[in-house]
Amino acid sequence: MERTLVIIKPDAVQRQLVGRIITRFESKGLTLAGLKLLKVNKNQAQKLYGAHKKKSFYRGLMKFITAGPVVVVVIKGVQAIAICRKMLGATFGPDADPGTIRGDFAASISYNLVHASDSAESSKYEIPIFFRSNEIISYDLHNIKWIYHPEEEKELEI
Ligand code: CMP
Repeated sequence: MERTLVIIKPDAVQRQLVGRIITRFESKGLTLAGLKLLKVNKNQAQKLYGAHKKKSFYRGLMKFITAGPVVVVVIKGVQAIAICRKMLGATFGPDADPGTIRGDFAASISYNLVHASDSAESSKYEIPIFFRSNEIISYDLHNIKWIYHPEEEKELEI
């Protein structure tokens, strides 16, 4: 199993899309392992988007991510990192395919509703920005045996 960080950004919270977005991950069979509503502080924003510091859009991005509450979610599942990235869709709303979160709900290139870690390294770096280890809950869904075939059992180990 992998863990990944998903951020439901200020535009999605203000547009009251939180429930619809979380429902998509649950419906896919992914497990919610951690979840909080919070306002991203400057320090957290700088850590999260440090890689973009030199980019022209950095200031706008920092302003956006700290503009209002977000929902941070740790999601667990086999190949959860790649699955969540696919479910988000292309970075810019106009480019995102229908059926993806951005494809269905985002029209902007800046207000793109959601963030998800892009690799195992990123998820290991990003999750602790928002969660202490005791805030991530280890449990198995009661219907896990109907989400994964028994032959996939090895991949279910964390
Ligand atoms: P996210 O998945 O959170 O990761 C980095 C973010 O930078 C990205 O989503 C966008 O919100 C933002 N971003 C990337 N490229 C641009 C751009 N050209 N203009 C504005 N924002 C951008």
